Amino acid sequence: MIKKCLFPVAGYGTRFLPATKAMPKEMLPIVNKPLVQYGVEEAIEAGLVDIGMVTGRGKRAIADHFDMNYELEHQISGSSKEQYLESIRSVMGNAHFSFTRQVEMRGLGDAILNGRRLIGDEPFGVVLSDDLCLCEDDGVMSQMVQLYKQFRCSIVAIQEVPDELIHKFGVIKGEQMKDGIYSVTDMVEKPSLEEAPSNLAIIGRYILTPDIFSIIENTPPGKNGEVQLTDALLAQAKNGCVLAYKFKGRRFDCGSVEGFVEATNYVYENIYKPE
Ligand code: G1P
Repeated sequence: MIKKCLFPVAGYGTRFLPATKAMPKEMLPIVNKPLVQYGVEEAIEAGLVDIGMVTGRGKRAIADHFDMNYELEHQISGSSKEQYLESIRSVMGNAHFSFTRQVEMRGLGDAILNGRRLIGDEPFGVVLSDDLCLCEDDGVMSQMVQLYKQFRCSIVAIQEVPDELIHKFGVIKGEQMKDGIYSVTDMVEKPSLEEAPSNLAIIGRYILTPDIFSIIENTPPGKNGEVQLTDALLAQAKNGCVLAYKFKGRRFDCGSVEGFVEATNYVYENIYKPE
């Protein structure tokens, strides 16, 4: 079924400067694990084991993180410190990584289009690792894969957000089909409160059918002069079907300092296991 997952990781992370001057924002740790590893673990849990990363300049640490570090392995082999490598060893043993570079930053839609060669002609997941999603049972991507099996069309994850935050998101309008599942009829990227068609905001988890690539090719630049995935998804919804799914779980906006700190405290108190 769905085996591939795309991670657009070319963004600058300006909100975390100077920390992100020479280090990718996706490598910032939530306690002891880089943000991007949480996203990759969520994809693997959903069976999406072919991981494609759309990277850019200054992002090599991400590729290195998912590669073998022989010197480190040699140093700590057989010592009590080996336990610290357990999670990344498991990720590397269970997934395969491919990388491509987005040469110019032209928006999320453009980043996805750059991943086309890694994906080919099959449905795929997208994880924006800034959005850290933690769930008690199945992860968000697993929940969405289950839904895809039933409906076989593109799906966006959504959450209700308060009025003052609505301008930060893509916002949908939809007809409720079942509890928490909407058929999308409209979508606006980062609207003002007056323009927003609802309070249902898109969170950084998508399942996309491969026709999205040719739709993006025909999508003109939108909000902020960037090619927006939201605009391409609206075109897809108008010609066929796009679902919006209110996922079960908690989302932290790790693209903002406040959300990052909140996630750190939450993981430290609820998930992290000290020695
Ligand atoms: C992107 C999308 C937006 C979505 C958001 C979720 O925006 O363009 O539609 O709501 O991710 O985090 P970004 O936050 O990358 O500007």
